[in-house]
Amino acid sequence: MPLPERFREYAEMVDQYLDRHLPGDNAPPEPIYRAMRYSLFAGGKRLRPVLCLAGAESLYGQAETMLPVGAAVEMIHTYSLIHDDLPAMDNDDFRRGKPTSHKAFGEAIAVLAGDALLTAGLETLSRADYDPAVRCRLIRLLTAAAGTEGMIGGQVLDMVNENKTLTRDQLDQLHAKKTGAILRFCTLSAPVVLGRGPEIEQIFLQYGSLLGLAFQITDDILDVVSTTEKLGKTAGKDEKEKKATYPSILGLEESRRTAGRLIDQACALISPHDPRSYLRDLALYVVERDH
Ligand code: IPE
Ligand code: IPE
Ligand code: MG
Ligand code: MG
Ligand code: MG
Repeated sequence: MPLPERFREYAEMVDQYLDRHLPGDNAPPEPIYRAMRYSLFAGGKRLRPVLCLAGAESLYGQAETMLPVGAAVEMIHTYSLIHDDLPAMDNDDFRRGKPTSHKAFGEAIAVLAGDALLTAGLETLSRADYDPAVRCRLIRLLTAAAGTEGMIGGQVLDMVNENKTLTRDQLDQLHAKKTGAILRFCTLSAPVVLGRGPEIEQIFLQYGSLLGLAFQITDDILDVVSTTEKLGKTAGKDEKEKKATYPSILGLEESRRTAGRLIDQACALISPHDPRSYLRDLALYVVERDH
């Protein structure tokens, strides 16, 4: 299943915003912007920014309002992929259908392009035209989601648990940090920007938790059942690297059922706050996508 048509417009808005806010390929000091743009515009699904924009529409806000948040998250996500692919980490040769950053530019520039995207993401958010208290809160939430309590913490657990058998609880915690933290930030961001209050924030956060876990389970399933061509990244890597994944612990069928249950819960939870079913459709896309 491709990203539903109605969200393509959001993805394009994000692409245009990113393009406008980043210096061109040849801007000095070369080749840093070329490397940043190479990975950023290689063809990611843009799920994270789309969640930010769709969340605002669901709450009767303007999708455009969320562009600085969506752009910041996509830059940080792209940085995490560049570093995730490095030889010292997952050692992957393909990403988003192209050679990985270190294959195209060498390891030093790949490390720096990742660092630069992380920094540029936070800078983008720090310049956004929100009330200063909201801006400050968004930066705090995003740095927490990206840092040692969130994504980095999850990446550490992912690395140190290679070749180990985890309990399902431990694996849930790994996924909640590695992938869930940033996705939770995305779903939380719209009620924060629009000032909808703690009750709505809590519901959007919980929706993000359920969706985030289902997202990583699906990523793990696709690694087993899909092809390198479809995924745009090397299939079958998790088994090769002895990663702790849902399919390796529960098998494919139970993994699929679990992801489905999580998405059912996410849809039920969000439905009273999702008048156009945008967030329901995105939740279904998370488990039905083929890459
Ligand atoms: C891949 O994320 C990394 C994970 C957190 C599993 P995506 O599947 O969203 O990658 P892109 O952005 O579409 O390339
Ligand atoms: C990576 O998870 C999550 C990140 C924080 C980048 P994976 O290692 O499973 O992601 P892929 O499969 O390489 O995209
Ligand atoms: Mg990894
Ligand atoms: Mg990887
Ligand atoms: Mg994976």
